[in-house]
Amino acid sequence: MKPISIFYGSTSGKTKKIAKNIQTNFKSDFVEIYDAKYAKIEDVEKHENIILGTSTWGKGLLQSDFEKFLNNILKHANLKGKKIAIFGTGDSSIYPESFADSIGIIFEALEGKGATFVGEVSTDGYQFESSLSIFGDKFIGLPIDDDSDEDQNKYRMTIWTELLKSDLS
Ligand SMILES: Cc1cc2nc3c(=O)[nH]c(=O)nc-3n(C[C@H](O)[C@H](O)[C@H](O)COP(=O)(O)O)c2cc1C
Repeated sequence: MKPISIFYGSTSGKTKKIAKNIQTNFKSDFVEIYDAKYAKIEDVEKHENIILGTSTWGKGLLQSDFEKFLNNILKHANLKGKKIAIFGTGDSSIYPESFADSIGIIFEALEGKGATFVGEVSTDGYQFESSLSIFGDKFIGLPIDDDSDEDQNKYRMTIWTELLKSDLS
């Protein structure tokens, strides 16, 4: 497997924990992890494969560190030839109308910049009303729901990581 860099934005630490779980699931020394608050453009450009993940705040807004990081990427990073997978955290019971919007916001911002997106996920098993993260009939990345139990989230992360092991090869 080629090296992967994971970048996360997290306010209360939930997304940080998910990002670390995803890193662990790869069982590889070649998966690096960065807090978007401190990540540099060189970190983004270092590896062909990147995973981006953050929470949704407000009602359908990006987590603030990640928003700044994304703007920095848009201004300065060359994404040509990169493979990108996206995950997002959210809460479908309290915010069913903007569930995990962060995934779709990131995708729409970076689409057309020369990268390929991998890691789509079926909406089966998620309870919500609407989400900006659905393209066609699937989530464009992996939503992790505060409202789901830990086992379900672990299962979803395991399946997703296995998918990425082949899609990011
Ligand atoms: C004020 C506030 C607004 C939120 N807005 C949304 C939202 O619009 N959609 C959603 O899916 N989750 C929303 N959430 C839930 C968070 O995204 C979720 O708790 C996430 O796990 C937080 O991750 P973090 O602590 O790593 O930033 C909101 C939470 C708070 C406290």
